[in-house]
Amino acid sequence: MCLRGATGALQKEIVVAHSHRLPIIAGNWKMHKTTGEAKQLTEAILQGIKNEKELPKIVLCPPFTSLPTVATAAGKGIDVGAQNMDHHESGAFTGEIAANMLTDLGVTYVLIGHSERRQFFGETNGTVNLKLKTALKHKLIPIVCVGETLDERESNLADSVISRQIAAALSDLTMEELKTLVIAYEPVWAIGTGKVCESAEANRVAKLIRTTIGNLFKSKEFPETIPVLYGGSVKASNIEEQLAQSDIDGALVGGASLVAE
Ligand code: PGA
Repeated sequence: MCLRGATGALQKEIVVAHSHRLPIIAGNWKMHKTTGEAKQLTEAILQGIKNEKELPKIVLCPPFTSLPTVATAAGKGIDVGAQNMDHHESGAFTGEIAANMLTDLGVTYVLIGHSERRQFFGETNGTVNLKLKTALKHKLIPIVCVGETLDERESNLADSVISRQIAAALSDLTMEELKTLVIAYEPVWAIGTGKVCESAEANRVAKLIRTTIGNLFKSKEFPETIPVLYGGSVKASNIEEQLAQSDIDGALVGGASLVAE
């Protein structure tokens, strides 16, 4: 499949080597943009994609406060995602946001277990599993983030860490329940550092993720249906190479997603 000019950031032709999984480009705005800035950026992105015929799935994940603003673009080639949610349905959880508050705003995707949530907000493989179950129950499309730290990579633990994250995240869930699952491989050492994981290595890990899922569910076909994104210092100059890999179906973009071009 050929994608061109997806968000304006993709100036060149991007060849996704496989067409059976829908390519996804998700922008994680993190704690950036006021509502006014979010409106401007969303409008600039809509302008950039308006003449494109063949677009990937574009998912914008602004801060909670800008979800209603970005949601006005939903249905115009852009889907809206939240960066986090609580796993409880409701209750005395000061500062938290429930799944039905997201769907109510037109949010259709949610990031789960981003490494910054794990690192700074105490999220664990266990809470990732709870959040995933709640997200699926509310028909939110989950983008579950996994990835190793630099220490883990240097100690040759990357593969075991990632397999463990996947097994824990998906535990007690069925293939039927997980049919909308999206995984993002985001090596922690590549996030916001400018150090991109070499594309062949990112592809090897994407394959490992599929093998792990295949083993968990004793299925060859199921892992082939799951989009695996790469994230970590993705920008216009390196996205093409990542997306050309056989097992990488898109990108989760942080810093570079804050600029429409
Ligand atoms: P980055 O962030 O593109 O700024 O490295 C990616 C992410 O955290 O999802």
